[in-house]
Amino acid sequence: MDRTRDAELQRIAELREQLHYHNYRYYVLDDPVIDDSEYDQLMQELIRLEEKHPETVTPDSPSQRVGHPVVGGFAQVEHRIPLLSLGNAFSKQDLEEFDERVRRWAGQEVDYVCELKFDGLAVSLTYENGVFVQGATRGDGQIGEDVTQNLRTVRSIPLKLADPVSLEVRGEVFMPKRAYEILNQERAARGEPLFANPRNAAAGSLRQLDPKITASRWLDIYVYSIGGLNYDQIATHLDCLNWLKRLGFKVSPYIKHCPSIAEVWELVEVWTGKRDSLPFAIDGIVVKVNSLAVQAQLGATAKSPRWAVAYKFPADQAVARVLDIEINVGRTGVVTPLAILTPTLIAGSTVSRATLHNEDYVKAKDIRIGDYVVIQKAGDVIPEIVRSLPERRSGSERAFEMPQSCPACSHPLKREEGEAAVRCVNFECPAQAYERIIHFASRDAMDIEGLGPAVIKQLLDNHLIENPADLYQLTFDQLINLERFGAKSAQNLLDAIAESKKRPLANLIFALGIRHVGSEAARELAAHFGSMENLRAAGMEELTAIHTIGEKIAASIVSYFSRGENNRLVDRLAALGVNMAEHRAEGTQPLAGLTFVLTGTLEQYTRQEAESLLRGLGAHVTGSVSRNTNYVVAGEKAGSKLAKAQQLGITILNEQQFIEIIRQPKQEMEHDSGN
Ligand code: IVH
Repeated sequence: MDRTRDAELQRIAELREQLHYHNYRYYVLDDPVIDDSEYDQLMQELIRLEEKHPETVTPDSPSQRVGHPVVGGFAQVEHRIPLLSLGNAFSKQDLEEFDERVRRWAGQEVDYVCELKFDGLAVSLTYENGVFVQGATRGDGQIGEDVTQNLRTVRSIPLKLADPVSLEVRGEVFMPKRAYEILNQERAARGEPLFANPRNAAAGSLRQLDPKITASRWLDIYVYSIGGLNYDQIATHLDCLNWLKRLGFKVSPYIKHCPSIAEVWELVEVWTGKRDSLPFAIDGIVVKVNSLAVQAQLGATAKSPRWAVAYKFPADQAVARVLDIEINVGRTGVVTPLAILTPTLIAGSTVSRATLHNEDYVKAKDIRIGDYVVIQKAGDVIPEIVRSLPERRSGSERAFEMPQSCPACSHPLKREEGEAAVRCVNFECPAQAYERIIHFASRDAMDIEGLGPAVIKQLLDNHLIENPADLYQLTFDQLINLERFGAKSAQNLLDAIAESKKRPLANLIFALGIRHVGSEAARELAAHFGSMENLRAAGMEELTAIHTIGEKIAASIVSYFSRGENNRLVDRLAALGVNMAEHRAEGTQPLAGLTFVLTGTLEQYTRQEAESLLRGLGAHVTGSVSRNTNYVVAGEKAGSKLAKAQQLGITILNEQQFIEIIRQPKQEMEHDSGN
């Protein structure tokens, strides 16, 4: 009896170690070494054992990411060492003055470390003997809120460190731009108020009394300092960041050592130009004195340290005028109001339209045609209207009314019960057809080169096409008569359309534009059903039996194939020779049962092409190397996946060997497949 108990306790300890490690690989390094399903299995095993031995469950167990709701609001936390803010610099001159002051006070030359200024909210994380025990917001710098339970749900915050040290770490919690966009889209569809920017979304998500809500939001962190670090142990800020990295914290990779303020300015200019390309929002560059001894010597004012400054990018808000409010009809018929703006430069690009999401949004913000409005752009995020400026109205502004019927086809619009979205339910609607064909031809779908929105519009306007199947019946004579088409471009387009008939089944499934079926789901469906016929015949039960296909996707697929017009489209595509099956023409799957991982860049194939070639031969392609991987295809600049494969003794193929295998899969694989 006791022996089982001992063995189980031992196993619990092992599982915790493993899960901490895999969590770190995935969320901190962004380089997982096992599949999600393997991770889930380990977690399930741990949860089962912990249920059996609840007395062993400690807050640092990887199973304890989501705790219980906080009753009666957050407790206050007094920061042991205040969280200061930073002085600002807005120009090259401001930075030079900062540098002069620093050198004067220090009485010597200094070097700097530059970091991105993440646009989120500052938090303090306390660890005792290597275990995360408390997390707090900055608050007013002296007193913050205890959001420990919520910070636990942020997967990139380690619950346990590599060494049993006690320390207080500071960093910025933020919401990646992509997560912010998705969150706001979902909120718009549910008619909920939208977050104004990723920072508000991060703050709103962290300050939830129920940690389950925080857990459902995609938050991330970069840590940037240690509270009350003793510079006897560590000499520079760079060393401090490296130590944090070694302890298991997520430290930004964009850190630059700048020997002088001239280099700082060069870096500022570089980031001013490319800040939009980052997956998260930044609002400036933080410049810090590298030497901790000099930092201590300079000290701080009541508000901010003298050894650091934040260069702030030029404001990314601007005023524009709403020239009109148009109605946009999407691929699935959802109708959204769109503000047409006076072209306005903001965060490095000119904006001339902004989504207004839905009728309720326009009403709540009281946006009228003719209004001056404050617009804002947080990095890549689609521009949006922050507020209207009623004080600048002349009286000629017009309130916006959602039309009763579709602007493209005059069909009456429908607003579903409990939804903020209004839809055009006419399948023949030309505006929907336009969006559907754009989607059909797009990169991850049928990937038809040269068939962009402008050409599609031209084809529709000239009544040459109505739906995607019509593309395959276009003729040279029809195209050559169109404006801007010559013999060469007409032939190129026909060739590209013909070429697209060979796309893998997954691309076609995605191309159909079935609601909720993204390219991932399409791949799963293609792999599972193997042909369009099988997919079309599948019912709810069969669909939901696939691990990654939930009720919503399944219901949408069933509903799609219950409509005559969709079935006619699929039948016509098949009759016109579009590939409808997962198998190659020979019907063989010589690589079935083998798992491949691709790493680095290949010369002759894009990653997507290589993956679909392998999948077409029946191989399973995953993103991470594990003991279940049979082959790793390593191109140029292959990194940690290659190292991992070598370590596990997995067969590594170079590009030439990869090409041989996809050409002659059978012979090549036979003796190797037991790998
Ligand atoms: S250092 C005393 N580094 O900016 C040093 N702060 O106004 C203070 N921030 O409250 C922090 N990115 O929320 C530092 N790389 C970075 C930062 C950063 C964003 C925020 C932080 C702080 C505010 C300072």
